[in-house]
Amino acid sequence: MTTASAPGKIILFGEHAVVYGRPALAVPITQVHADVEVLDSDSAGIWIQAPDINLHAELNTLPSDHPIASVIHNLFFLSRVSPFPSLNIKITSTIPVASGLGSGAAVTVALARALSTHINYPMTDEQANAFTYEIEKLHHGTPSGIDNTVVTYAKPVYFIKGQAIETFQAAKPFTIVIGDTGISAPTKESVGDVRKLWEADKAKWENVFDEIADISFSARRVIEEGWTKMLGALMDENHALLQSMTVSSPELDKLVSAARKAGALGAKLSGGGRGGNMIALVEPDQGEAVAASLMEAGAKHTIITQVS
Ligand code: MEV
Repeated sequence: MTTASAPGKIILFGEHAVVYGRPALAVPITQVHADVEVLDSDSAGIWIQAPDINLHAELNTLPSDHPIASVIHNLFFLSRVSPFPSLNIKITSTIPVASGLGSGAAVTVALARALSTHINYPMTDEQANAFTYEIEKLHHGTPSGIDNTVVTYAKPVYFIKGQAIETFQAAKPFTIVIGDTGISAPTKESVGDVRKLWEADKAKWENVFDEIADISFSARRVIEEGWTKMLGALMDENHALLQSMTVSSPELDKLVSAARKAGALGAKLSGGGRGGNMIALVEPDQGEAVAASLMEAGAKHTIITQVS
């Protein structure tokens, strides 16, 4: 049996602007993960079991653009495996789908790693990252590549599309509470809507993206110097700019203000927006109280995590 796992992720700063070449910061969230097991099988075919999405099917019965089928077909194509071996593949994930926590990228990374190792075509991190980016492009239109990068390397990343993948380290660990609206919101749609805004008034939105770039740049410095409290104000500023881009929602805004009222140092939506998750920066001993306030304000789940 061959197994592989990949974590979820959150974007700390810079979502959406990152699609337009501005820097963004993202960190892995190891409390949630995608896990894949690959086993040789006696019965013919490639049987896929993914109980979280109620899937139990043979590969050839799935449409070729099915997210899981496309990973397997593309990997076999790359590795030139023919004929296909008989396999059982089990995929489980604790990462909520379409919530901004990188579930699609994590399933692709874990599946690509487990399957490629099993068929003796091991992938380096660079290859797994590039492969996952190609799969993300099939399903998400114009992704920046930040999701596959943070999920593949499982390290905090400072990311500029096509230029920089730098990992960074916090001088002092800090605590983030993640609140899930429970509303599934495909990133492709919010990214597409931002593109329409940008096409209608490029000068205006390029300025907004520049403001976000300044925030991401300062945030990295603040994290690396350990001036963690200053991150709160940067989160609030970033959230306001995301609101102006129409990617927040009443539910996200409600959770963001509940977190601030409960004493969070700052809060913002994280990821594609419109639903999915928000994040709040808290003092370590405030995590539980802020998480409880988020639940009262309608969050479906919360996660308290330390970034270090
Ligand atoms: C999604 O997690 C982040 C976005 O910036 C899209 C992308 O970077 O591909 C909204």
